Amino acid sequence: MKDKDVPVFIEGETICLAVQNSEHIDLYAKWMNNPKVRVFARWEMPIRLEDIKRWFEPRKGRVHNFIVFEIWHNKDNKPIGSCGLAWIDWVSGWANAFLSIGEPEYWGQNIATETTEMLVEYAFNELNLHKLQGGAAVENIGSWSVAEKVGFKFNGIRKDEMYVDGKYYNVKTYGILKEDWMKRKKEID
Ligand SMILES: CC(C)(COP(=O)(O)OP(=O)(O)OC[C@H]1O[C@@H](n2cnc3c(N)ncnc32)[C@H](O)[C@@H]1OP(=O)(O)O)[C@@H](O)C(=O)NCCC(=O)NCCS
Repeated sequence: MKDKDVPVFIEGETICLAVQNSEHIDLYAKWMNNPKVRVFARWEMPIRLEDIKRWFEPRKGRVHNFIVFEIWHNKDNKPIGSCGLAWIDWVSGWANAFLSIGEPEYWGQNIATETTEMLVEYAFNELNLHKLQGGAAVENIGSWSVAEKVGFKFNGIRKDEMYVDGKYYNVKTYGILKEDWMKRKKEID
């Protein structure tokens, strides 16, 4: 185990997926309010520390359909972003994958690709989900490039899906089935 003050959930080479930490709420607020980071992440409203604190409060009757990880940089020994699975449908076995690197100096280093691979592996091999999906604005090239690099299939364009800075943007949608992921893994190995 590396020298970390947060519980590691899944070990990786450059990064690991760590459990979210209520002591890092300042950091989460910094990432989610940063104009550079939030522009295509659909965080159009200011997020207060109080809003984030509420994530950690127990709620009666809460359906467990959201899983969030901190992306922890192994060498630099610090959290740099977050990722997870949203709106998990446990019956049909699908979820939306999401990811955001909150520290822009870590962009363009293949980190989102490595993270997404770990997230997909977790979704299919630990949770036994059947399908993952995701989407990104056509202009958010980094985001949909990651989906394609990891093996997500292009499903289509949702026209005028996002309104950002006075303009509508089309969104590219992607999906990946567990069986295709397994086949792809066999080919790579
Ligand atoms: C989008 C984001 C997750 C990408 O993370 P990242 O770690 O930089 O991604 P990676 O380095 O793993 O891969 C990005 C790929 O896109 C490519 N890319 C990025 N911007 C590009 C551009 N303008 N033109 C062409 N290719 C581009 C990179 O070259 C890389 O591909 P390569 O490895 O073949 O060179 C990161 O920029 C981010 O967190 N942004 C803010 C939040 C956000 O938008 N989240 C997604 C919401 S849908």
